[in-house]
Amino acid sequence: MPHTRVTITHFLIDEQRRYGGTGHFTTLVNDIVTACKMISHQVNRGSLAGNLGLAGSENVQGETQKTLDVVTNEIFLHLNALGGNYAGMASEEIDDVHVVSQEGSGKYLLLFDPLDGSSNIDVNIAVGTIFSVLRCPAGIETPSAAQFLQKGAQQVAAGYILYGAYTMLVLSTGHGVKGFTLDQDIGEFVLTNPDRRVPADTNEYAINASRSELWEPPIQRYIKECQAGKNGPRGKSFNMRWVGSMVADVHRILCRGGVFLYPIDSGNRDKGGKLRLLYEASPMAYIVEQAGGIGTTCRGRILDLTPTSLHQRCAVVLGSRNEVERIESYYREHG
Ligand code: AHG
Ligand code: MN
Ligand code: MN
Repeated sequence: MPHTRVTITHFLIDEQRRYGGTGHFTTLVNDIVTACKMISHQVNRGSLAGNLGLAGSENVQGETQKTLDVVTNEIFLHLNALGGNYAGMASEEIDDVHVVSQEGSGKYLLLFDPLDGSSNIDVNIAVGTIFSVLRCPAGIETPSAAQFLQKGAQQVAAGYILYGAYTMLVLSTGHGVKGFTLDQDIGEFVLTNPDRRVPADTNEYAINASRSELWEPPIQRYIKECQAGKNGPRGKSFNMRWVGSMVADVHRILCRGGVFLYPIDSGNRDKGGKLRLLYEASPMAYIVEQAGGIGTTCRGRILDLTPTSLHQRCAVVLGSRNEVERIESYYREHG
């Protein structure tokens, strides 16, 4: 019944009552929500708003920026600074920390990938925004990169917004994972998935298979065994899906199970992997763990990695518990 639905604001107020809090956190999530509604609107307008194509610039990581990478980054920076909740922000699209000046009142740090999967935007395939919230260490008014280099396990909240056939916000504040769908008619996110759980078993995997020659032996073994199907060592058929937007691939796993892999390979080893630890791996691993799955670099838990630099990359394998544990065991056997 539409009139009995719970909006995200009601949900946050209820969480605040249940777990305590000063209200800062509720306004902080509300700012993220407002930014994402604006981004959703821009993404949905596509060419109509002149939002497609290249921006003609590169980000700090030497990647070509799309117009929407720049637009969404500005929206996120601007709207989240207004509420006075953050001492600083860090983004995949900016070189250094963005300090929010508000006389030391900001208690939190915000890290984000404003547009994930941006290579998909010009061909109208789902993209997303990923965010992570950390506590700003006490006594710090002007944070530098050092304050952002916290283990993923210390996140206060993490989430993503998927701009797909419909827009969804998936959020964890450390008490499970909730999904909200944007009702475009009333302009509100409403609670549609009160308890997302990743099934422990799966027969679906997601990997960029064009890199198979570059993979390490344990990944080659795992994928070969999946591809061998019913007559292979796994004794069952597997399905492969790769959208190329981490948000969309991980969302599918959250909905119906699966394993997502972007491992270190001989083509990305010098950079430490492909995906960014602070803006992609860590928040997504937090969500997946909160939903009962696992996130690993194959050499340890993603959330236990201590970052050494803002734009650090890492290997990512996450999703259904039994599959991820199997991949970890192949790494241990390989030594
Ligand atoms: P971004 O658009 O923020 O740079 O991230 C792209 C990432 C991720 O979303 C996706 O899973 C991966 O890069 C795709 O990599 P390939 O191009 O190797 O498939
Ligand atoms: Mn990304
Ligand atoms: Mn991005």
